[in-house]
Amino acid sequence: MLIAYYTITGQTRRFIEKTQLSAYEINDTDPFHQMSAPYLLAVPAYDDEMMDAVIDFLGYQTNAQRLVGVVGSGNRNFNELYIHTAKDIARGLGVPVVFDYEFNGTLTDVANFQKVVEQLESKQH
Ligand SMILES: Cc1cc2nc3c(=O)[nH]c(=O)nc-3n(C[C@H](O)[C@H](O)[C@H](O)COP(=O)(O)O)c2cc1C
Repeated sequence: MLIAYYTITGQTRRFIEKTQLSAYEINDTDPFHQMSAPYLLAVPAYDDEMMDAVIDFLGYQTNAQRLVGVVGSGNRNFNELYIHTAKDIARGLGVPVVFDYEFNGTLTDVANFQKVVEQLESKQH
């Protein structure tokens, strides 16, 4: 399973690097990158206007159709706004939030996320 992710302060990048999954980092200068296969999108939670690159990426070619699910990161101190960006994108595109974690994830988070990815991959074959 491919991963696309967005990061502002680097926590999401650190989490994705720990998973050792093949990943593409959405960047602000050129978010128009076509995903070549089904993928998961990992996003931190911020105000909507900070997510323009992710919205541009999702609107590009078949990226919205190939999205299998969203991985949310955030901070539980935000209470009901915890991982709201992932939830909003998932709801908007009709896909599930498949996993969530805080900051750059613990080693347990990494192991649990790898299991979720394996389960999703086995469903696709
Ligand atoms: C300005 C700002 C707003 C944030 N808003 C939220 C929020 O609404 N909900 C949430 O769960 N986390 C929120 N966070 C926490 C970040 O989503 C969290 O620290 C995340 O791990 C950052 O990921 P990144 O380093 O990949 O950008 C916010 C952080 C900042 C600095």
